[in-house]
Amino acid sequence: QNNEPVTFTDAESGIVFNSWTVPGDTGQTQGGFTFGMALPSDALTTDANEFIGYLKCAAADNKGWCGVSLAGPMTNGLLITAWPNADTVYTSLRFAGGYSMPDLYAGDAKITQIRSSIDSEHFTLVFRCQNCLHWNQGGSEGGISTSSGFAVLGWVQAFPSPGNPTCPDQISLEQHDNGMGIWGAVLDSNAANPSYSAWAAKATKTVT
Ligand code: HEM
Repeated sequence: QNNEPVTFTDAESGIVFNSWTVPGDTGQTQGGFTFGMALPSDALTTDANEFIGYLKCAAADNKGWCGVSLAGPMTNGLLITAWPNADTVYTSLRFAGGYSMPDLYAGDAKITQIRSSIDSEHFTLVFRCQNCLHWNQGGSEGGISTSSGFAVLGWVQAFPSPGNPTCPDQISLEQHDNGMGIWGAVLDSNAANPSYSAWAAKATKTVT
């Protein structure tokens, strides 16, 4: 997995991301995993509290889920969980005090979608995550300082679909079985873009 970001433009949305990939052919995860981040234009000097995320995760025939820990470890950080079902990609924001089924995140973080796609091996989601870079769950507080130009992030993938997949607040998960890891993500100047506000305005789809 790279620490220095790879900059790429999502063709469908035109959004430019810093991205980090776990390749599918190194034995770490089947199908590969990519997370990308785009930030408000001043985020490398003033800490931002939102970002636009890109997730491309493995899911064989619409089955599977993936997640990102915005803290690095699974515990005590805001967790983004995403999975496909029929033609929709669902998400749930979660928080885990231990290594068991994470609770619903009770803070005011919110995901709205810009685009999603699903094929026989992957699903892709481009989403806005507001109030996501600072979290507090029952006094367990933390965040990402975008002005530091660095974040510790965690990834995870799994093959079975969540239980109750069309009810994000009521999903059940098995322990992930398709790889996991923590990485240091360097944010460079390509992550913070003058077009951020215009891109964020495209996040009009709420999936609940
Ligand atoms: C690691 C259990 C859901 C993110 C782990 C580990 C366990 C575990 C036991 C440590 C494994 C090891 O070190 O060998 C579970 C169970 C879950 C669950 C039982 C649900 C029933 C999630 C979710 C996310 C997540 C929803 C993110 C959205 C991570 C990450 C790691 C990890 C990033 C690696 C970093 C670390 O060790 O803290 N999980 N997990 N997990 N989990 Fe989970």
